[in-house]
Amino acid sequence: MILPVIMSGGSGSRLWPLSRALHPKQFLPLISENTLLQETINRLDSNCLDPIIICNNEHRFIVAEQLRQNNNKASSIILEPMGKNTAPAITLAALAALDNGDDPLLLVLAADHVIKNGQAFQQSITLASIFAEQGKLVTFGIVPTHAETGYGYIKQGSLLTSKTEQVNAESYTVANFVEKPNLATAQDYLATGEYLWNSGMFMFKASRYIEELKKYSPEILSICEDAFNIKTHDLDFTRISADIFEQCPEDSIDYAVMEHTEHAVVVPLDAEWSDVGSFSSLWEVSPKDEKGNVSQGDVISQSTTNCYINSQNRLVTTVGVDNLVIVETKDAILVANKDKVQEVKSIVNTLKAEE
Ligand code: GDD
Ligand code: MG
Repeated sequence: MILPVIMSGGSGSRLWPLSRALHPKQFLPLISENTLLQETINRLDSNCLDPIIICNNEHRFIVAEQLRQNNNKASSIILEPMGKNTAPAITLAALAALDNGDDPLLLVLAADHVIKNGQAFQQSITLASIFAEQGKLVTFGIVPTHAETGYGYIKQGSLLTSKTEQVNAESYTVANFVEKPNLATAQDYLATGEYLWNSGMFMFKASRYIEELKKYSPEILSICEDAFNIKTHDLDFTRISADIFEQCPEDSIDYAVMEHTEHAVVVPLDAEWSDVGSFSSLWEVSPKDEKGNVSQGDVISQSTTNCYINSQNRLVTTVGVDNLVIVETKDAILVANKDKVQEVKSIVNTLKAEE
């Protein structure tokens, strides 16, 4: 059986002011009436056990409520006293999985991705589980379309499986994994045609992740073990020692393990994936009218093209504009050029500095 681990601790700051520290993007209904977290759970099939959800303590009631609304159960909701990035989060989930005496295949998922083709996603998981059973650390690779610097890049090594009728995908060993390269490097990688983007989802046996972490980031492992050993349970929540976890270095699985391991495999994922990291990618994946506008809430537009307009409270009207992002919320309004939306993050940083 597959035990999904849903990482739900990110802040989604490039989607401000929709996404807020206390209500980040994984908890928002961005694409459908379900939130991204609910969609992530809905995408799982019957080969999966109830997921482990790992999130910040501050978000515990949002997570519990979104599960309840969706009639889902979690096998546990692990609460992090503070965010330490994904390597420690996955470590806690792996320790919880092993704590039951089993060594399940962990399917590590981000709570904030959009995947439109569920069938293709399932096919990739089926292929991944073959390698994960063999002790490999499997990544899901996306064919890159541009030199994005916010992603990990995976160089395909030797071919492991070819396309067959059963599995419509080729898988490869990972020759090189580079997390968030600079622009020039990303452009070089794109030009070779040998690299895939890392989708940020992984599959491996719980014990294999722990073994690789022990090799490459032993401090994260020992602190997480100590913090996990002093755990308490209430309702579906698992709490760990805040005093100990606070000492844990911050690091992502990509830097801590995937860049170093010699046992990685990449399975292609061709499932209309998007990490909806910014308003431009949200615009891309959302249904548009004939003028290329995405309008949500109370919006009236004239002579308006290629805009993303989201009104939460008031009527928003536009005349004669193109390629804008307009987001209206109770206490903040964003107006941005759709080609510059990566810079929304620096507005959030400015606001944090003023706090
Ligand atoms: N529980 C928990 N705790 N979850 C976390 C934490 C944490 O401290 N930090 C991040 N997450 C969750 C986020 O909510 C998201 O679902 C997922 O882990 C990935 O974190 P991001 O912060 O969004 O990572 P990224 O987008 O910069 O990079 C990752 O994803 C890219 C694809 O979207 C990497 O894996 C890249 O290699 C990859 O290309
Ligand atoms: Mg992300």
